[in-house]
Order: sequence, then C-alpha cells, then structure tokens
Amino acid sequence: MKRTFDTALITSCVAAVAAVACTLAEPLDAEGSKRRPNTNTGEVNANDTDTSGTRIETATGLPCDVDAILKTRCQTCHGSEPQFGASAPLVTWDDLQKPGPGAYANKKVYELVKERIADDARPMPPSPQPRLTSDERATIEKWIASGAESSPATCTNEAPKDGVKPLSCKPDQVLKASRPYSLKPDGPTDQYVCFGVDVNVPKKRHVIGLAPLVDNKQIVHHILLFRTNKAVSPEPFECDAFGSAAWTLVAGWAPGGDNLELPKEAGFPEEAGTTHWVLQIHYNNSNTKTGSDQSGYELCTTEDLRPHDASVLAFGSTKFDIPPRATHTIRCDYRLDKRFEGVKFFNASPHMHVLGQSMSTERLPGGNGTPETIFEQKNFSFEAQANYPIDKSVAPGDVIRTRCTWKNPGDTRVGFGEGTGDEMCFNFIGYYPAIPDRTILGLPVFTWVTPSHSASCTVE
Ligand code: HEC
Repeated sequence: MKRTFDTALITSCVAAVAAVACTLAEPLDAEGSKRRPNTNTGEVNANDTDTSGTRIETATGLPCDVDAILKTRCQTCHGSEPQFGASAPLVTWDDLQKPGPGAYANKKVYELVKERIADDARPMPPSPQPRLTSDERATIEKWIASGAESSPATCTNEAPKDGVKPLSCKPDQVLKASRPYSLKPDGPTDQYVCFGVDVNVPKKRHVIGLAPLVDNKQIVHHILLFRTNKAVSPEPFECDAFGSAAWTLVAGWAPGGDNLELPKEAGFPEEAGTTHWVLQIHYNNSNTKTGSDQSGYELCTTEDLRPHDASVLAFGSTKFDIPPRATHTIRCDYRLDKRFEGVKFFNASPHMHVLGQSMSTERLPGGNGTPETIFEQKNFSFEAQANYPIDKSVAPGDVIRTRCTWKNPGDTRVGFGEGTGDEMCFNFIGYYPAIPDRTILGLPVFTWVTPSHSASCTVE
C-alpha cells in the first residue's frame, strides 16, 4: 500500500537547522580533523581506529592468518561478548566449532562464517563496512576446506577495534530519552524507538561535534539523529522504521561508523530559544535478547561562534516510480544558483529505505564539466546508515547529480514516501555557509528539501 507524500508537510518543515543548550566546549584541535577518516566511498575504513596498530599476543586455537582476519574484520561485533546485534562470538577455535545461535543451530559456526562472507544479499561484515578482500576470503575458505582444524600457534595480531572513537572536543550536551527503554521480550527482531529532546539556549551557540552514545551494545544496532521544527515526545516510543519525512537527518551511526566533527569554519547554529532534536534507535536481534537501553548522542557546543553557520540540504529526489521486479536507477540533477557562492560540503548521510542498493553524488563543474565524485556508497544498507565526512567546494552553475538505485523484488510499484512500503532517495549533505530559508507570501520556497524536490530526474 502506497502513501503519497504530503507536500504540505514538507513545506512546513522549514527548519533544516534550528537551535540548542549549555556550558563550555573546547575547540577541535588539528589532530581532530586529521583523524577524520578520509573517505568518500561510503565505506568505513576498518583500519582507521584508535586501537589500530595495537598488537596483542593470543593463542585462540586458530591459525594466525585466520585469527588476524577475525580480529580486525569481525570481532568489533563478534567479540567474546557479541554486540550490536550479533550473536555468535568469533574469537576462539572452540567458538567456531559450536552449533550456530538460535535458528542456525543445525550448522556449525564455521559453516555459517563460510556462508556469510560469500553471501551477497546478507554479507558479513555488513554494510557499510567493506567486504573481505578476495585474499582474506580465500584464507578463511582454505582453512575451512581443509577441515577447520585447530592450531597451537601463539599469534601477534592487531587488536579488534573497540567502538566509536572519542570526540576531540569536550561534549557539553547529552541528547537522551527521559527514561531507558526496555525491550519487549517477545517483540519483533527489529524494534525502532524514537524520542525527542528539546534544548533551550539563551544565546546563540554552534554545535561543532556530534558523537553517538551507545549504551547497551548487546542490542543497539543503529542510531539516527534528526532535527525538526516541532517538539517530539521525550518518552521513548515505538516508531516507524522510517521516521518522519518532516525530520532532517543530521548524523547517523552504525557499528564501525564514526562521530561527526565539523570543519573549523562552521557550526550547526543554535539560535536563542528552542531546538528540537529527534533520535531514532534501532534494536536488532531484540527478540532473543532482553534488557534496557538509553542510547543517545552527545554534542560539543560553543558560544564562541565560528565564522559560518552550517546546515543540511537533501539532494536526490522526491519523485520516482520504481517498477515491480526490477533494479531501477534514477539520475537527478540540481543546478546550484548564486546562493551557493563559496559553499563547502563537509558531510554526507545517505538515506533510502530497505530497497535501496546504492547511492552516489557527483559535482559537474559549470553544469557540464567532467563529473567529480563527492560521495559514493556502493553497498547501501538501510540497517546501517551512517555519516561520512566529505570535503568538496562547489560554485554557482555547478550541477549536483545524485543517483539512487533500488532493487524491487515485489509485485507492486514503489514511490516516494515515509511509510513501510515507500522509498526515499535523499543524500543529506552537511554544508556551509548556511543558505537562509526563504518565504514568498508566507510560503517557504527554499528549505532543506528543495534540491531534491526540484531536481530533474531521468531513469537510467
Ligand atoms: C558491524 C558489526 C559486525 C561485523 C563487523 C561483523 N558482523 Fe557478523 N553479524 C552482525 C550482526 C548484527 C548479525 C546478526 C544479523 C544478521 O544475521 O545479519 C551478524 C550475524 C553473523 C552471523 C550469523 C550468526 C550470528 O551471530 O547471528 C555470522 C556467521 C557472522 N555474522 C559472521 C561474521 C563474520 C565472519 C564477520 C567478519 C568477517 C562478521 N560477521 C563481521 C554484525 C557484524
């Protein structure tokens, strides 16, 4: 069943960026920006971690080459206490000989490993992590083919990455629900919970760093942070997986993803008054786990304003029609007008729903120059949306081209909307200096959604 998109709703959400509260924040240091992963591919660089380079000596019963791959590519989630929705520890030879967890009990864990590293539909590691290289895959497959035997070796390998890297500024604001949320013991595998946080400030501030606060790592699978122009309940409530089309995505985190630090020149403004934030938390494998969680986001804000306000614009499209049983790609062009003089793009948060396969955004200098990649995510996964630092200057006359590809296995056409059966094609781009919203006769004419609303699209 298809819900059509409510244009009144979209035009009513003028507030791409509004306002927030608090105390002192330290500025980012040079080290902070150096540590931002330098990628525009949408793939998290598995080696870009605080713990990378830390080598540890272990005897796990596994041959050292297999142990090395499991440590760096699997154990962030499949450690001895699995987290972020994974169930099976993949640390020792014993772990791999056990029967699989829950419904997988008819197979041994190493057999599941063999399947999942080769499974294009449900790959391990999951998106947005890069797949194993062919060498890594061959190493594991060879070991399994020769009997998955144990090894007495003591190995010195890189330690697994341990969670999100800390912000280089001092967080002074915490966005959390008013109380912890307890998982429903017999609930669905995937549970989505939303809540709002209103922040009041007497004087304008800039948000310069944002990091996820992952509370119960056993069950939290991903966190999205939005801004909106209306207050949303601070009590955690079960919500639609897709949130609301009136919410602007600012940042997102999935296991292996990172925080968001703004370039030195800009901050998301917190005008004096109230800013409305909304968080959505996705719990995975929650039917087999119990427990409660109070995850959120923490922000560094400062009264020492930076030269520019930052904001968010959605490139992509709000008009498309995905045919049944098809892989469908649209290419949408939006020409930048004179307000984009001196604008820089610094973050990309791609957003589609479950049919989403890939997304890319390019800049065509002058409108017809050679396309330059701004951002590309070849393996989009609804289950693992995150934000990715980018660094691109744009100019008036440039065309910003966004491609979205979906795979629709169903028998019905799918269009734009916020419902379960609908799709989206938004690349939320963080940029500065912010372009003020405009109104004509009291009606908003330039808001965060304008670039996707007025893009011209062709089917590829
Ligand atoms: C970013 C976190 C993450 C990483 C890294 C990761 N996995 Fe997983 N894995 C999951 C989640 C979440 C599930 C449960 C959902 C599913 O089955 O897709 C899972 C499920 C599995 C399962 C099924 C058993 C279970 O625990 O539910 C296997 C087998 C598996 N992963 C193997 C691997 C292997 C092998 C690697 C490394 C090459 C890897 N995974 C890396 C998150 C991760």
